[in-house]
Amino acid sequence: MSNPRFRTLRAWCVWPAILATAGTAWGGDHESIGRGKEIFEREFAAETLASGGDGLGPVYNHHSCAACHLLGGLGGAGPVDVNAVALTADLANRDRPPTRALLARVLRQAHAGFASDDDTITPTILLHRFSTNERYSAQYQKLGGETIPLTPTAEERAQLQERLSRQPRKDVPWKSPVILRHSQRNTTALFGAGEIDRIPAAALEALSDAQARAGEVSGRVPQVGLTKVGRFGWRGQTETLHDFVLGACSNELGLEVPGSPQPVNPQRPSYSPNGFDLSADECAALTEFVASLPRPQMRLPAQPERRAMAIDGKVLFEQIGCSQCHVESIGPVKGIYSDLLLHDLGPGLADPVPAAPGFFVHSQRPLPPGTPEPSQQQQPQQFPQGYYGGGSSLAGLLGLSNAVQFAVDPKTGVRSEFRVLRTAVEQEWRTPPLWGVADSAPYLHDGRAATLIDAIVLHGGEADPCIQRFLELPLTERFAVVEFLNSLRAPEGL
Ligand code: HEC
Ligand code: HEC
Repeated sequence: MSNPRFRTLRAWCVWPAILATAGTAWGGDHESIGRGKEIFEREFAAETLASGGDGLGPVYNHHSCAACHLLGGLGGAGPVDVNAVALTADLANRDRPPTRALLARVLRQAHAGFASDDDTITPTILLHRFSTNERYSAQYQKLGGETIPLTPTAEERAQLQERLSRQPRKDVPWKSPVILRHSQRNTTALFGAGEIDRIPAAALEALSDAQARAGEVSGRVPQVGLTKVGRFGWRGQTETLHDFVLGACSNELGLEVPGSPQPVNPQRPSYSPNGFDLSADECAALTEFVASLPRPQMRLPAQPERRAMAIDGKVLFEQIGCSQCHVESIGPVKGIYSDLLLHDLGPGLADPVPAAPGFFVHSQRPLPPGTPEPSQQQQPQQFPQGYYGGGSSLAGLLGLSNAVQFAVDPKTGVRSEFRVLRTAVEQEWRTPPLWGVADSAPYLHDGRAATLIDAIVLHGGEADPCIQRFLELPLTERFAVVEFLNSLRAPEGL
């Protein structure tokens, strides 16, 4: 049992009942999907609503879901100018850690989202582009925020892309003991998201297990807390489509929605709105719309030579081993070209907002006689709030990286001790589905790769041997692989 992956497998075995509940079928009738579409396209404004909500903001990244998710049709990926920007606090000098109180004070001065009044620290926050408060823009610039036009020209966008490719991450010096690290996330396409939502956890476990046996690549099932599986986000950080949609409402648009409060207003940290901006029903309709977006299609070029090349390219893609991670189908989800697992792609793609760690079962024992009924015992906990987003050194200082968690299986009464799996959480990325990839440039988690070729050559870590084989192919065969990728298109008519 020296391979940690088998130990994670054991962790899953403890909780079959909980795992079985994952995966939702969002049926959605015509009418609610239509209502959801209207909300997805709605241009929100900052205004007092009858519900008591305050509409858009106070801090936000754009006015509508559709403003970012638009390439290849409604619900698609986004260009770099609408990237979400994360700000991670890190220690300037890891050898001389400050007191938590000092750290909280310095961070609060930088942005109230980092630390609450009781000194609870959130190591990563979103650096929103806009606020309804005019004093925000000075703070935004001080924190290293870039002023990007709301609707850039093609030339401005190309310049942005070029700058991002050269310098995808940047550090902003701050007051001792802190430095602030910027990193970005490119907008993903939502086509086929409803199908991904229904993939059972066991299917991902089986893929991870098969890779551990075969050897060259070793994907890890993204874990959310102790017992849930992540399916969405570049780091596989979110379990369900609905959870991601709720988070997008608050994080991107600043909407207060049931289950996901709007972000802290840095100019007025104690402020909260008097009501919701969208009701639970409206949020459900929004998720139904997103879940109804069809999966992308393979569309071979009409021209016979290019068509033959794309077909050859598909064979080469499998032969050189791209399909070890970009698996063609997961059960009934055909043509996804992803295993949805986390892979270490090497230091070149490291980023300060880490993947949530995995857990393994360190020890298990039945509860001693006389302890209360298992049903009254502690249920599996979530990892401490704000970990997804633990800057590396802060995670250590706050005791997050060594966290030990306990959980009791309500059925058997067995108490398990979970420990954190040591993996390169800053270098692990969920294999992105390649369906629709021809219509979703730019590529990689932050959009640093302008073209498919750039994206391929930037793979490192576990993908190294495979990329070497790609680079050793004759030029025409490399073109054939790209021609194949260019046949993976967004669905038509959206
Ligand atoms: C400012 C641009 C922006 C806006 C506005 C925006 N998104 Fe996104 N969206 C993103 C980015 C960036 C990601 C990738 C985030 C990550 O993976 O960490 C994303 C990812 C998603 C995902 C996860 C897809 C996957 O496969 O992992 C869903 C679902 C989603 N957005 C839905 C929405 C909805 C619904 C709205 C409107 C309430 C919305 N988004 C508004 C930028 C945006
Ligand atoms: C070890 C697993 C692995 C292998 C092998 C692999 N990839 Fe990837 N691929 C990934 C991961 C993980 C990412 C996301 C990295 C990131 O965002 O920083 C990715 C990203 C991509 C992207 C960008 C997709 C997007 O939406 O941004 C393309 C294109 C791609 N891979 C093609 C290929 C091709 C072609 C091969 C074979 C030559 C290959 N990959 C081999 C794991 C792999």
